[in-house]
Amino acid sequence: MALVEVLILLTLVVFLFYKWSVSKYYTFRDRGIPHDQPTPLIGNLDTKIFLGKSSFIKFIIERYQAYKISKIYGIYSMRDCNIHIRDLELIKKVGIKDFDSFPNHNSVGGESSETFFSKSLIALKDQKWREMRNCLSPAFTGSKMRLMFTLINECVIEAVNYITSEIQASGNTGVDIEMKDFFTRFTNDAIASTAFGIRINSFNDRNNEFYRTGKAVTEFTGFVLFKAILFGLIPKVLRIKLFDDKILKYFNHLVIDAMKYRKEHRIVRPDMIHLLMEAKQHYETSDLKGEHAEFTDEDLLAQCTLFFVAGFETVSACLCFTAHELLENPEIQDRLYLEILDTQNSLDGSPLNYDSLIKMRYMDMVISESLRKWPPVIITDRICSADYSLKDDEGSFIAKIKKGDNIFVPIIGIHRDPDYYPNPNQFDPERFSDENKNKINPMSYLPFGVGPRMCIGNRLALMEVKAIIYHIILNFKIVRTEKTCENLMESISGFTLIPKERFWMKFVPRNS
Ligand code: HEM
Repeated sequence: MALVEVLILLTLVVFLFYKWSVSKYYTFRDRGIPHDQPTPLIGNLDTKIFLGKSSFIKFIIERYQAYKISKIYGIYSMRDCNIHIRDLELIKKVGIKDFDSFPNHNSVGGESSETFFSKSLIALKDQKWREMRNCLSPAFTGSKMRLMFTLINECVIEAVNYITSEIQASGNTGVDIEMKDFFTRFTNDAIASTAFGIRINSFNDRNNEFYRTGKAVTEFTGFVLFKAILFGLIPKVLRIKLFDDKILKYFNHLVIDAMKYRKEHRIVRPDMIHLLMEAKQHYETSDLKGEHAEFTDEDLLAQCTLFFVAGFETVSACLCFTAHELLENPEIQDRLYLEILDTQNSLDGSPLNYDSLIKMRYMDMVISESLRKWPPVIITDRICSADYSLKDDEGSFIAKIKKGDNIFVPIIGIHRDPDYYPNPNQFDPERFSDENKNKINPMSYLPFGVGPRMCIGNRLALMEVKAIIYHIILNFKIVRTEKTCENLMESISGFTLIPKERFWMKFVPRNS
């Protein structure tokens, strides 16, 4: 082929590629949805996030704030068209009132070895999701959490013992600890115990297999990245495989062997495997079961693995931010300590229990505010299942939503909106006092999502977070060190929620 022909062909290919890359950029304009002018190929994505020079969290907040006068806005994520809803009534419509038109998340899994993940609750769709959710819900009630509390408390005690031993080794004055590592080890042990039925102490046995495997999953994906992929913020063409086969085999071996062993030896342990085995049995004998549906061991494994992915980084992120805010706000830490002492006294020497923990009002205010200011899942999504006309409460037409459209709820944007939370960057648990909390519109507080599809593990998450904060603050004062990050928001980059200085803090024993 002559050089000229090659050049013509190449130009044609580049031209066609360009045309393809911009071919959807008329969507928002035609539907009257406010949006920024997209850049060919990358759309409205901020490439600095991929280079680690800016953060996904800031991007979501900035986009939300940029469209202050709009009820919805559009973001082109390469060729994907994502509609973000910022109006609370419209969020209620999509998430609750018209749930049947928006019942599912964007697809995840579905390919090769990940097909098993497509069986997990978060990825299931329509009737299959409904059946599985009904089947799993009884495993997350308050009474089940009460039983599981003992398992969590064992992990809490081991984590706190680790700090105590580090303090003793340093001469009883106090010790600097990087809390991302600390809380990751704690959530790791808690999930190993509650979801997979195995007891691990990642503080003593620092490189155990469960911890290494778990880290491989989360380091690879990072929960925010995982969510970003799941919720379509990473364009489809850049999506990567979430789990490698070795990791799947490891989880498979853990769960299937544990089930077999328990069946053979009639062992009952108050954990997720047991609750899922019960749910499976109940499902198979009840009318929850659809005509052709079944609940296989693989389905059960998919739920356990999802609980691992969904509960690992979220809980540890919440703990890191809560501890950091307590360090930044010593008066709030002192008040929490007083409430903890009161609870401790009322226990009269008995160990902490689930009921005493959830009765603590100030603890609840502190954790609620932490989840408001730093929601570990900063955005959630729905897929439109049939063409839908989006109207506000007065019946005014907002936009045409088509089957297959991606709808997003920018949780962090709403949580940092001064119209709902005056002075939103201030950490103020009083927003959630008995007197004030009724003034909060429920649609403006969405750390666990919205409607029938909201987080199924919220009670478990709150129990874990409150239990370890209780024991830490009871035993230690958390104070700043030279290594403590000065400005979290400015130090976070890319798709993570971890500042570049990480979460260094000093622990001083209360009895010193
Ligand atoms: C502080 C910790 C946590 C936060 C902030 C959190 C937040 C969320 C959010 C925002 C969603 C999406 C809800 C929606 O789209 O409306 C979700 C879904 C989910 N979460 Fe959590 N989560 C946490 C911990 C956990 C834990 C410990 C588990 C383990 C059992 C868990 C299991 C799930 C599952 C299974 C779903 C999918 C539910 C469904 O599609 O029906 N989460 N979570």
